[in-house]
Amino acid sequence: MDGLMRAGVMTATGGRGVTARAYPNIALVKYWGKRDEKWMLPVTGSLSMTLDLFPTTTRVELVPDAATDVVRFNGGSAEDVTADRIRRFLEVVRALAGRSAHAIVESVNTVPTAAGLASSAAGFAALAVAAASVYGLCLDGRALSRLARRGSGSACRSVFGGFVQWHAGLAEGRMGDKTSYAEPVPVGALDPALVITVVDPGPKRVPSRQAMRHTQATSPLYGAWARAGEADLGELRRALRQGDLDRAGMIAERNALGMHASMLAARPAIRYLTGGSLAVLDRVARLREQGVPAHATIDAGPNVAVLCPRQDAAGVAQELGAIGDVQSVHIAGPGPAATVCGGEDR
Ligand code: PMV
Repeated sequence: MDGLMRAGVMTATGGRGVTARAYPNIALVKYWGKRDEKWMLPVTGSLSMTLDLFPTTTRVELVPDAATDVVRFNGGSAEDVTADRIRRFLEVVRALAGRSAHAIVESVNTVPTAAGLASSAAGFAALAVAAASVYGLCLDGRALSRLARRGSGSACRSVFGGFVQWHAGLAEGRMGDKTSYAEPVPVGALDPALVITVVDPGPKRVPSRQAMRHTQATSPLYGAWARAGEADLGELRRALRQGDLDRAGMIAERNALGMHASMLAARPAIRYLTGGSLAVLDRVARLREQGVPAHATIDAGPNVAVLCPRQDAAGVAQELGAIGDVQSVHIAGPGPAATVCGGEDR
């Protein structure tokens, strides 16, 4: 392996094929809405935990004579929408690198795809790291996060491990691009877990890109949520720095419920929450009444992630797993940064 990325710092290999691995992240203060669609610039900053579960491993191999990019996903050919998105992303990488060679992309994803568990975050973070390396771009962690952001907003946070903030940045277009990046957040003494509760592993009904556009355009609650989100972000940073997981969870839960409220108020409404999601929220509230410091967060899907101290995670998982609508429960801790994990030799 002549390419290396540790803690977000990468050196280019320029070889023909590179494999990279990245992990999903769950936002505690969410990204929902763009101020610039072309450059994928968010309305608000967000803050997440990278997980140590469900990695995506992606190999990008240059095929200089090929007429187009070939995209394979979990051993088969990728759906057209996914393949087009990946090709558009590779165009961005080629433009930055001043190269024209097409590539074969092979991605293997272990997260239930499109279930609101941020599969696109791990996917585009791994792709950004592998593609940047194979096309010979020499990018530091911040620049890699800006690149991953162009594939999927939340992917910029999966470039780093642990707790990560994505800065909204200033302005639009190229200026906005420079100022909108992710970086690790300092945390105090914390031993957190996220208990991922799957109530529906199927694909989501409305893709997040479309849903956030519609919420922004039609929901009278969207502006209020976004303004509150900026305050949530500052408070969450403080809580994490102080090692106050209970407070961090409280902020995460109110931020996520506010995001879903803004979607419910869109015209027409977008509703990702199901009866199963509400049953989990009820049980989490009951756990808190019993003295367990557990709080819920929900992405653009019905599944619920529950933040709690690691020592309580097994008990929380057992309680939530006993709910009829819950299909599976997974305990995640803070996960690692995206890394190159293989060079030319397969
Ligand atoms: O990056 P996208 O387009 O998958 O949007 C992700 C949006 C949420 O998962 C709902 C929130 C977030 O900050 O990850």
